[in-house]
Amino acid sequence: MIYLDNGATSFPKPPGVARAMAGVLEKIGANPGRSGHRMALAAGRVIYHCREDLAAYLQVSDPARIFFCLNCTDALNAAMHGWLRRGDHVVTTLVEHNSVLRPLSGLLLEGMIQLTMLSPGADGTVSAQQVRQAIKPNTRLVVVTHMSNVTGAVQPVAAIASACHAQGVPVLVDAAQSAGVLDVRPDALGADMLAMPGHKGLFGPHGTGALYLRDGITLRPLRQGGTGSLSESMLQPEDLPDRFESGTQNLPGIAGLLAGLRFVRAHQAEIPQHEAALAARLYEGLQNIPGVRLYSGANAGVISFNVGGMQSGEVAAQLDQADLALRGGLHCAPGIHQHLGTLDVGAVRASPGFFNTAKDIDTLLRAVAIIARSA
Ligand SMILES: Cc1ncc(COP(=O)(O)O)c(C=O)c1O
Repeated sequence: MIYLDNGATSFPKPPGVARAMAGVLEKIGANPGRSGHRMALAAGRVIYHCREDLAAYLQVSDPARIFFCLNCTDALNAAMHGWLRRGDHVVTTLVEHNSVLRPLSGLLLEGMIQLTMLSPGADGTVSAQQVRQAIKPNTRLVVVTHMSNVTGAVQPVAAIASACHAQGVPVLVDAAQSAGVLDVRPDALGADMLAMPGHKGLFGPHGTGALYLRDGITLRPLRQGGTGSLSESMLQPEDLPDRFESGTQNLPGIAGLLAGLRFVRAHQAEIPQHEAALAARLYEGLQNIPGVRLYSGANAGVISFNVGGMQSGEVAAQLDQADLALRGGLHCAPGIHQHLGTLDVGAVRASPGFFNTAKDIDTLLRAVAIIARSA
């Protein structure tokens, strides 16, 4: 099977990831941060190192301001539900994934918040000017995805953040598609909060993610409970990261994420270069197939398209029969499909990863050409 669904989760993982996960389960599978015996301490060190490596990758000075989550959705929920209060106004975009749209729409429906959703322009991006104009006196948060999981459009996050900061509004950045590929340093982006999955571009396993909080951002923790620290108190500790990490941590997952992250840091220049070259080859090839309609730009890392009048799910199913793994449908992003006019058919998404080759792309192009001829 040729896997071209890295936007959903990366596959394969670098070889060290599975080894690291098996290693902790087989040798140091104690509960990290709890007991004081050597095995628990060794398990705790794995988590400590992953947090340190993540801080080094993000170039943030305080690793304790990063906490581990279940995935990017969990990180986004922790940020939005932990930050927002009754009466707040939030600005976001139609480009967002349901992991942003659903929590915000839920809060809107409950009457908790007011919400403004900005439409992207023809290039798939929202401008800093649009965001500036949407900010009201009670705006307490702007949420923006760094890279669209449908069109691959990269939002001008730094410009948006500086427009927000000029009016004292913090920015939550969804780095689901960009972490591991683009520059996601919070200081470079102007992100006050940065949510990222561990299992996509950072090459960790499923069930991993993280949230970074800039100094000065304080959230209500969504989960409260045992942290292995200050156990004499019945109140949730204030200390970071414990405040946000109640319950037993995903030790094998975090061990895998540490191995994935080390791989990313060792190949930091090659990964974006290789993935961009594959996406460009795909874009060019698809452009030359009659009947193919593209929804991504020439430089996008994720390429979505449709073939003739076919349902995207049907195209994806035919590609599956040809041993090509791509995702059809709406990609949990109804706003952008509404904007593109594809809510009824969806789109087929190809998201090449670092382990794909030019040959994989050519195989996909041949298969799409065959489908297009009979569409
Ligand atoms: C833009 C975007 N945001 C958030 C998510 C949610 O990520 P996760 O699956 O890690 O919860 C995704 C997943 O595809 C995504 O593409």
